[in-house]
Amino acid sequence: MQLLPEDKLIWSPVVANSRMNRERNASGINSYEQEFKFKPEVFLQQRIVEQGAASWLDLCCGQGKALVQVAESFLSQNLGDRIHLEGVDLIGDFVSSSTDLHCLHFEMGNIAEFKTERQYDLITCVHGLHYVGNKLEAIEKAMHLLKPTGQFWANLDLENIVINHNSSSDYLKDMFRQSGFVYNSRTKILKGSGANSIHFGLKYKGADDQYGPNYTGQPSVCSYYEK
Ligand SMILES: C[S@@+](CC[C@H](N)C(=O)[O-])C[C@H]1O[C@@H](n2cnc3c(N)ncnc32)[C@H](O)[C@@H]1O
Repeated sequence: MQLLPEDKLIWSPVVANSRMNRERNASGINSYEQEFKFKPEVFLQQRIVEQGAASWLDLCCGQGKALVQVAESFLSQNLGDRIHLEGVDLIGDFVSSSTDLHCLHFEMGNIAEFKTERQYDLITCVHGLHYVGNKLEAIEKAMHLLKPTGQFWANLDLENIVINHNSSSDYLKDMFRQSGFVYNSRTKILKGSGANSIHFGLKYKGADDQYGPNYTGQPSVCSYYEK
C-alpha cells in the first residue's frame, strides 16, 4: 500500500469528492445541531452573556453555510462586534451573504497549515477528519487553540486510524479517557474541553486514500501511525 504525504493527499479525488455534504446548516435539518445535539448559535450566545464576547472556529467548514447563518443572526441582533467566526477549508467555494459579515473570516487552505494567535470558545470539525491525513495532529492542534472553557467537537471514525498496522481503537479510547475527552463509539463523536490537552506521542506515516467508505458510507482516508 502506498501511503500519501500531505501535499499529495490534498489532491486526492477522495478528499475533493464533489458528492460530499458541504452544505450543513447551523441548526435544523442537515445541520451541525443534528450532529452534536446543540445549536452553535445558542452556545455562542450563552458565552456572550457570560463573558461579553464569543468565538467559533469551524475546521473543514465546507461552504461555510453554518457560519454565515450564525454571523447573520448575530448581526441582526447588533451583536456583530461581540462575535468572531472563522472557517477553514481546502476548497474555497464559500457561500456569500448580501450583508457585510465583518465578524466572519474564511480561509482557503489545509487545516494542517492553519495558523492563528487566537483562542476560541468553540472549535468544530463536522465530517472533516475523515479526509484529513494527520488526524491526531489536527486534534492536538484544535485543543491547543481552545480557551480553557472552550469546547471541541468532531466526527471521528477510529477505523480510519491505524497504529503499528493494528486497530487504534483501544489505544485511542484509553488516551481520550485519560485526557478528559468524551468519545461516543456509537455516534463517533469526540468532545474535548479546553481545560484538557492531549499529546498522542505517535509518529505519523502517511495516509491511504484507497481505504474505501467509513461509517458515513462515503470514501474516506485512513491515517497510519507508529508508536
Ligand atoms: C463532508 S465535508 C463537510 C463540510 C462541512 N463541515 C459541513 O458539514 O457542511 C468535508 C470538508 O472537509 C474539507 N477538507 C478535507 N480535508 C481538508 C483539509 N486537510 N483541510 C481543510 N479542509 C479539508 C473538504 O474540502 C470538505 O469541504
